Amino acid sequence: MSTLQKIELNDLIQKLSSSVSETDALHILAHNYPNQIVFSTSFSYEDQVIMHLVRQLDIAVFTLDTGRLFEQTYETWAATKSFFKKEIRAFYPDAQALGEFITQHGPDSFYRSVEQRKTCCQIRKVQPLKRALQGYKIWITGLRAEHSENRKNMPQLEWDPHHQLVKYHPLLYWSTQEVKDYVKKYQLPYNHLHEKGFVSIGCAPCTRAIGEGENFRAGRWWWEDADKKECGLHIHQ
Ligand code: ADX
Ligand code: SF4
Repeated sequence: MSTLQKIELNDLIQKLSSSVSETDALHILAHNYPNQIVFSTSFSYEDQVIMHLVRQLDIAVFTLDTGRLFEQTYETWAATKSFFKKEIRAFYPDAQALGEFITQHGPDSFYRSVEQRKTCCQIRKVQPLKRALQGYKIWITGLRAEHSENRKNMPQLEWDPHHQLVKYHPLLYWSTQEVKDYVKKYQLPYNHLHEKGFVSIGCAPCTRAIGEGENFRAGRWWWEDADKKECGLHIHQ
């Protein structure tokens, strides 16, 4: 990490001392970094809570439409747009790169190898993410520690060397119950797949419901080893 990055991160950490609530932290950030903060939503339970927290703040919102999302996710997107009336920018995969990949390997090659799966994620998520983050200094996500071993030891504020910005995860330490209670309390729209055993929801062909006692991310890329289950959106140091 360069000296400049260290100063920026330290400055932020000081501004957001641990005694500050998530709501206050987001207000402080929005006040100090106008036009420089962006929140990525996949319309998960967590993202709906964050959407509610940032709805009136100077924080931009985007989603990555991979083209393979669940019908229920598109319904949640539409409901979220009318509920919050806040702009949600949509980002798409590069048509040429995707066309070439599908022409060569077919529409479902992600089941054949980890390499093919990662290439699909690169084209449909990681490259569009790079475009979506351009020009921003702070990226807000709905990551939660409970979701995976990898995420348990993450800091709430971190420097992302790949995208050269600070990431902030306001709900990192929230429990599933707290998230659900918040959605219920404010009657926020939510993805109805959450009621059918889907915990972490990504693309339709790569997500399944989980059973009692299964790991939260067991339903993502379930045919792969547990240690490969990241798509490249979130790379932790
Ligand atoms: S992933 O890396 O496995 O795909 P996950 O589904 O856990 O991510 O979601 C964690 C956070 O990543 C979400 O709260 C959201 O901030 C961001 N995210 C994931 N998928 C998308 C998407 N399609 N569009 C925008 N943001 C997303
Ligand atoms: Fe492709 Fe599956 Fe990754 Fe979605 S989650 S981008 S369909 S490999």
